[in-house]
Amino acid sequence: MAEKLLVFGPAGNVGRQILPHVICNPKFSVCLAYHRNKPAQCDDPGVESVQVSLEDLGSVKKALSWLPDRIVFMVNLAPGTLPMAQNFVAACRAVSPSVKQIVYVSECDCDEYLRTETAFYKDQWDTVQCVLESGLPVTRIEPACFMQNIDSFFGVPNELAKGTGTLTIGMETTTPLAWIDTRDIGEAVARVLERDAGQEVGKRYRLVGDYRSMGEMAEMLCGVLNECESKPKVPYPKRLVYEQNTMEELQRGMEEAGLEPDVAKDMAIVSATMHEGHFPIFAVDNSEELEGLLRRPATRLQQYLKDNKGLWERSWASGKLDI
Ligand SMILES: NC(=O)c1ccc[n+]([C@@H]2O[C@H](COP(=O)([O-])OP(=O)(O)OC[C@H]3O[C@@H](n4cnc5c(N)ncnc54)[C@H](OP(=O)(O)O)[C@@H]3O)[C@@H](O)[C@H]2O)c1
Repeated sequence: MAEKLLVFGPAGNVGRQILPHVICNPKFSVCLAYHRNKPAQCDDPGVESVQVSLEDLGSVKKALSWLPDRIVFMVNLAPGTLPMAQNFVAACRAVSPSVKQIVYVSECDCDEYLRTETAFYKDQWDTVQCVLESGLPVTRIEPACFMQNIDSFFGVPNELAKGTGTLTIGMETTTPLAWIDTRDIGEAVARVLERDAGQEVGKRYRLVGDYRSMGEMAEMLCGVLNECESKPKVPYPKRLVYEQNTMEELQRGMEEAGLEPDVAKDMAIVSATMHEGHFPIFAVDNSEELEGLLRRPATRLQQYLKDNKGLWERSWASGKLDI
């Protein structure tokens, strides 16, 4: 018989990549606990949905009264997530004590970030501890830096639109990041959900995709731009140059990308602190754990950049239109 799966955050970066693997999967009957943005899949035949705010204990209890066998839980990348985790834990204990498994997609290595003494990561750390120490049957998924950050808070398309051939983000050129494609995260979460819940509870999966520095990323992106078929007025650059900008510039860029000023400030501090050697965050440079779940190689950064060629191409072109 199909198991009842309740998915929080179904409209987010990760959540939306989980849906194709669990909707229409005979192993699950699915309910989407959406917040503001209602995914189109809520109207698919056989899919149930419930509007929820993790800030409101009553609404979380209502969502959990569906009595799921398994839950995918995550919070958003925002300040003040601890009360959301507390409400989730309280509601599970009160309404859904016999849930078999909670697959928790969490912030990665937030204990490392604590050294930066940023309020944002202190809260993320407390959030993670609240869920892990709840005594609930949790499997933790810890993904590294999302490739999708390149287009969101790293603002690379905006940089391309300037048409200068220079990318600037507040990290050192040579500092490697473990990039992971959210499509891989979604698929990996589904593979974990398909396994025996009893054997998965208590496990932790650190998902690492492709270990690449900002300099390498810029080089790859340049190659992809040069494969574009359009003939822009200002030609594609022979070389994209990556330069580390100041923390203040990085903060401004992230605010322009829509992050709250306090969060942007904390993230700028963290990014500017990621120097090779003395902030060894994500120091796992192989993707075995991920590939074991996927049973295929993880998506490489080069592939992600190619798959999103139109985005980089349009950005470069829009810059030229402004000139
Ligand atoms: N971004 C990264 O590089 C990164 C790296 C490692 C780990 N992570 C972790 O991965 C997880 C997922 O990240 P993400 O980037 O997919 O997040 P995201 O895109 O911000 O998505 C968050 C989801 O949570 C929902 N949500 C927001 N506020 C809510 C509330 N008050 N009540 C109920 N639902 C709410 C959002 O719904 P609406 O859109 O409808 O508001 C959205 O569907 C997070 O726990 C994050 O810490 C992220």
